[in-house]
This record gives sequence, C-alpha cells and structure tokens, in this order.
Amino acid sequence: MNYYIHTYGCQMNIHDSEKIAGILEKMGYVCCDDVKLADVVVFNTCCIRETAEQKIYGHIGSLKKLKKAKPNLIAVVCGCMSQQEGVPQQIRKSYPYVDVILGTANLGLLEQSILQAKNKKKFVNTEFLGYTEEDFTQKRTSFPNAWVNINYGCNNFCTYCIVPYVRGRERSRQMSDVVAEVRTLVEQGYKEITLLGQNVNSYGKDLPNGENFAKLLLEIAKIPGKFRVRFMSSHPKDLSDEVIDAVASCPNICNNIHLPVQSGSTNILAKMNRRYTREKYLEQITKIRAKLPNVGITTDIMVGFPGETEQDFLDTLDLVQQAKFSSAFCFVYSRRKGTPAYSMENQVPYAVKKSRIVQLNACQNQVTKEISKSMVGKVFEVLVEGQNTSYKDCMCGRTESGRLVNFKCDQTYVGKFVNVLVERATSATLWGKVVEED
Ligand code: SAH
Ligand code: SF4
Ligand code: F3S
Repeated sequence: MNYYIHTYGCQMNIHDSEKIAGILEKMGYVCCDDVKLADVVVFNTCCIRETAEQKIYGHIGSLKKLKKAKPNLIAVVCGCMSQQEGVPQQIRKSYPYVDVILGTANLGLLEQSILQAKNKKKFVNTEFLGYTEEDFTQKRTSFPNAWVNINYGCNNFCTYCIVPYVRGRERSRQMSDVVAEVRTLVEQGYKEITLLGQNVNSYGKDLPNGENFAKLLLEIAKIPGKFRVRFMSSHPKDLSDEVIDAVASCPNICNNIHLPVQSGSTNILAKMNRRYTREKYLEQITKIRAKLPNVGITTDIMVGFPGETEQDFLDTLDLVQQAKFSSAFCFVYSRRKGTPAYSMENQVPYAVKKSRIVQLNACQNQVTKEISKSMVGKVFEVLVEGQNTSYKDCMCGRTESGRLVNFKCDQTYVGKFVNVLVERATSATLWGKVVEED
C-alpha cells in the first residue's frame, strides 16, 4: 500500500508532512513518487495567498478521475486551508470524493481517520487539539538539514495575514525538549538544524521560567559535533540584541537572518500592524551588520497592500537599495477573508500591483547581482546538500550566509562541508569549484 503527499506552503508544512509520512509509514504504507500508484493521497495545504488556494483546489479537482479509476483510493485534505472557517463544508460540497478533512493541530487523528475512511465513512474534524513533537515518529526527508519546531502559532495579527487564524496562538516547546531533539539529530548525522517558528523571537514568552530565544540558541550551540544552526522567521519588532550577540558569539549559528520587512513605508507598516517603522527596521539592519560583518540578510516584501501609494512603493524600493538583502521573497498582496485588511478601503488595482512587483523584483535582482559579484574570487565553507535540480551534473550547497552555490563533486559528499572557490556569478546563481576538503 502506497502513499503520496502533496505539500504546499512554508517550511512549517514541509515539516508537518514529515510527521504525516511518519504516521503513514507506522501504519504500513510506503512512500511513492507517482500519485497514480497511491492508495492514500494527502494534500497538506496552504492558504497564505489566493493563488496558493486556487492551485490546490485545481489539484484536488483533478483527483476525481483518479478516484473513479481506483474507488478505494483515500483522499485526505489537511493543513491551513482546511482550518479556515467554512472551508471543510465547501470541500464536502464541491469535492464529495474527499474522504478525510483534518486541520493544522489534530494530526493525532490521522490514523483513526484513515481507518474510518477504509470503511467508507467520511471523517471531518478540524478541532484544535494541539500536539507535541514527541507524539510522532517523523520521517525526515531533507538530509543534511533537519527542521525543528520551537514554537507554533502566532499572536501578531498582521492585518493582511491568515496565519494567526489557522495556526492558533503562540505555543513554545520546552527548551529541554528542543535541545534534546537537536542533540539526537546531530548524533544521527544531520549537519544543519533549522529552527522553525512564525516568530522565533517570541520563543519562551509563554513559558513560566524566563526562557527566551537567545538562551535557546546558546544552549543548542553547546551541543558537541560539527553542525550549523539556522532559524526562521524573525519578526523585526522582537529581534533582541541578545539574539544578535548569540549569533555573533557562536560559530555554529549561521550568520544568516531572515527578517521580513513587508514594506518600506512607515505609513503602510502601521496599517499592517507590524509595530515598527522604516527607521527602526533600518536601525536593526545597521546593528546586525555591525555585529555580524559577513551576514546574509533575507526578507519578505509585499506590494499592493490597501492604500499603498506610489510614494509608499518608492519608499519600499529605496529601503531595498539601502538594506542590501542577499535575497527577497516578493509577493503581491492577496485579500484574505477574515483578516482586517480584507475590508480596508483603497484596495490597489491588479494592474498597479503587477507593475510594482515587476519593478521590485528588478530592483532586488540588481542588489543580489552586486552581492554575487562581490563573492567571486573568495572561498566559502559550503554544506553539500545534493544535486542541483536544473543542472544535473552539478551539486549544490549553501554558504553560511545562506547563498546557494553550484559546483562539481561526487554524490558521496552530500552532508559534508567543503570549501568552495566562487568562480563566477550569474545574478542570483553562484558557480564555483571545491578547493580543499574539510
Ligand atoms: N511568520 C512569518 C511569515 C509567514 S507568511 C513572518 O512573519 O515572517 C510568509 C510571507 O507571506 C509573509 O512574510 C508575507 O510577506 C507573505 N504574506 C502573508 N500574508 C500575505 C497576503 N495576504 N498576501 C500576500 N502575501 C502575504
Ligand atoms: Fe502572519 Fe504577521 Fe504572524 Fe508572520 S508575524 S505569521 S506575517 S501575522
Ligand atoms: Fe505556512 Fe501557508 Fe500555513 S505559509 S503557516 S502553510 S498558510
């Protein structure tokens, strides 16, 4: 019996899919990479933007044929989309062949729901039950990296964002549990640990014993063995000096900070409820660069938030030029039902949004190109991750600052640290050669 998982959305979902895979394998299912061979198909969904949702609905729709050909096929929809109000009912109505609907915090019901579906009974439950990592055996799929949740949910309620509604309030894992998990992963040979939270900087605020993210980083950094630590995301309003100092003082914590800015206009930031100004954000950047000279700072930016004027947009372009992000994920604002921005006045027309995203991407590409050029001729320590998906004869890996480099080396190097001399750069892509083994 085979299973196939479609994963959409962010790293949280990628990691949740590893838990889903773990549950299915415990039940005796085997992973397959062709959906036509599957006996259980899982859609682990995202609803951050309308485009994500439309794509998923399209994919669920195309299951109809498969289900006809294979009536015993079990279809599961879970994740953020099904956690939204009214969506389970909508799925039941439009896609009656879906057997199981679960939410974001009740994966513990997966086994039971599949057994019920086998008896031809639908299972719909999006109760917010919560779980801890310790409840599941995970099937990790991203060696040499391992994802580790440190906190779940979000309390920030940025006015455009659906996440607080579908992922619930902030909950931190016990520090001893996180540290123990990382220690085990390092002992198992994982070389890169990525700590995950919607806002890692608020780690510990809900714990009784004064634990915080900086203390967690310092504890993790003490674990013996050669490995790297990354983390995401950092809300700029909560990034403390202690966290920056922890990154500076621990060689195994990567000089790489993902600091989503969203907009370069103080006016728009206020409407977004981000609780920092343009100036405050730029001050954070200056502080980070002073303490971490070779840092790679990445970000998320949105264009077309309600009320965004041409001047607001120009402020964003200007911030992009000043901040010198090594890369930026740029998005067109998407109206999400149930969020405050949905009903704000002055929604920006699509044509304007489209023109702004093109300009923003061009502006960031120029910055990335300059940073890439400055890396040519230098040697960087790179963790070999695997084959490049587009250039099959090349392997790839990341520098400490988070930049992807392509180079030739043997497959057996996956999971090893190598020194790579960057020889050329084509805007966002770096090419190099291995110069000396670690
Ligand atoms: N917790 C993370 C963000 C998770 S969502 C953080 O705060 O950094 C990832 C990114 O999607 C956000 O940073 C934002 O840029 C984008 N995003 C969120 N809601 C969106 C919306 N309604 N429309 C377009 N982009 C959105
Ligand atoms: Fe969404 Fe804001 Fe929370 Fe990030 S911090 S998940 S953008 S509400
Ligand atoms: Fe992630 Fe999408 Fe949910 S971005 S938290 S999977 S809405």
